[in-house]
Amino acid sequence: MNNSGQNTYVKAKTMIPGGTQLLSKRPELHLPEQWPSYYSRVKGVEVWDLDGKHYVDMSYNGIGACVLGAGDPDVDEAVRAAIEAGNMSTLNAPEEVELADLLIELHPWSEMVRYARSGGEAMTVAVRIARAYTQRDRVAFCGYHGWHDWYLAANLAEEKALDGHLLPGLEPAGVPRGLLGTALPFHYNNLDELEAIVNKYPDEIAAIVMEPVRDHDPEPGFLEAVRAIADRIGAVMVFDEITAGFRLTPGGAHLLHGVMPDIAVFAKAISNGYPMAAILGRRDVMQAAQSTFISSTYWTDRIGPAAALATIRKFCRENVHNHLIHMGTLIQAGWQEAAQRAGLDIHVGGIAPLSHFAIQNEKAQAARTLFTQLMLEKGYLATGAFYATYSHQSEHVEAYLEACEDTFAVVAKALKQNVLMEQLKGPVAHTGFRRLT
Ligand SMILES: Cc1ncc(COP(=O)(O)O)c(C=O)c1O
Repeated sequence: MNNSGQNTYVKAKTMIPGGTQLLSKRPELHLPEQWPSYYSRVKGVEVWDLDGKHYVDMSYNGIGACVLGAGDPDVDEAVRAAIEAGNMSTLNAPEEVELADLLIELHPWSEMVRYARSGGEAMTVAVRIARAYTQRDRVAFCGYHGWHDWYLAANLAEEKALDGHLLPGLEPAGVPRGLLGTALPFHYNNLDELEAIVNKYPDEIAAIVMEPVRDHDPEPGFLEAVRAIADRIGAVMVFDEITAGFRLTPGGAHLLHGVMPDIAVFAKAISNGYPMAAILGRRDVMQAAQSTFISSTYWTDRIGPAAALATIRKFCRENVHNHLIHMGTLIQAGWQEAAQRAGLDIHVGGIAPLSHFAIQNEKAQAARTLFTQLMLEKGYLATGAFYATYSHQSEHVEAYLEACEDTFAVVAKALKQNVLMEQLKGPVAHTGFRRLT
C-alpha cells in the first residue's frame, strides 16, 4: 500500500530528532507504520493525506487547536487582512490592545494581560511572574503544563535512576538538578496532597498551578479550598486554560465554577490554529512582570492577536461552546451504546468537548491500535479521543458512531479469540505520557 506520509516520516526521523515537534503528533502514538502522518490539505474536519486520501478527523483536530475546525472562514479572513496590512513592523500591532480589552471584559476579575505564542511558554511566563511577585521558588501543581524546565523539574528524583518516574514518558535529562524539589505535584481533587506540600513548605510556595477542570469536574468545594489555601499562604493561583478554556463557556472554564484565579493562561483554544497565547491576571500580580525580563520578538506579530480576536468573537457570537458540548455528549453516549451492543468493555471520560474512551482489557493498547487501523480503513482519523469542533455536524457523528459499532464488534471478537496481533498490520501503538490528574 502506498503511504507517502510514512515514507516522509522515515526520512524525517533521520533529520528531525523524534520526527515531529509535538509528542502527540508522533505517528507511533496512533498507528505505527500505518498512520498517514502528514497532510496535504485540511478544511473543517476533512483532511487529505500526501496521497490524496480523504479522512474525517474524529480525533484531535490539530491536537485541540482547531476548535472551530481547520481553516475557519472568519478567522482566515482576519488573518488575511493582517497579512495585507503587514504582519510585522518596528511599531506594535494595535490588535494587542483590542484583545486585552476583550479578554478583560470576559474575565472581569482580571486587569492586565501579557502575550506569548504557545502554551508551554505562556505557562512559563505565568510561573516567572508568580515567582517574581512572591519572591519564592517552589510551585505546587497538578496536570500537564508544557516542556519547560520549571515543570519538568518535577521529574527529577533524589536518586538519578528514578528520574522520569513521576510523569512517565517525560524525561528530564538536561533540566538542571538544582531545580530538584521546586515543582511539587498533587492530584486533582486531592486536597490532602496539596495541604501536605503546603505544610512542608509554608512560606516557600510561589504558585499553585492547575487546570480548573479537565478529565472530571471538581469535587464540590475543591476549587474554593485551593483558592483559600493560596490566599492563606500568599501563593499566586494560576489556572491553565490552554486546552479547557472557551470550550465550556465563552471564556475560561473557571467562570462556570465561580472561582477566580490570580492568573489565567490561554493558548491553543483561542486562535484556531494560529500561534497565540495570553497570560491574564490581577494588576498587582501582573505588574511583577516589570521586575523581571520577559520579552520576545515574535510575541509581537499581528496574525496572533488578529486570529484570537476573530476566534473569540465567533465563540461569543455563535455560542460555539454549546455545539462542542452537544457533539461531545452525543459521542460519549454513542460510544457507550456502541460498545455495549458490540460486547466491548470501555470506560468513557473527559469533559464533553474533550472526550475519550479506554478499552478495559489487559490488551487495551493493542485493541485500541486495531480500532485505529480499522477506522482508518473506513476513512476516519480515530483514536481513543474525540475533540469536538464547530465544524463537526450530526451527520459526522452518526456515520462515525456506526463505523465505531462495527469496529468495536471486530475488536471485541479479536480480543475474545485472542487474535488481536494477527489482525494488526503493524506494531502496537506506543503509549504517551500519563498526565498527573
Ligand atoms: C493544559 C495544557 N497546558 C499546557 C500545554 C502546552 O501547550 P503547548 O503545546 O502549546 O506548548 C497543553 C498542551 O497540550 C495543555 O493541554
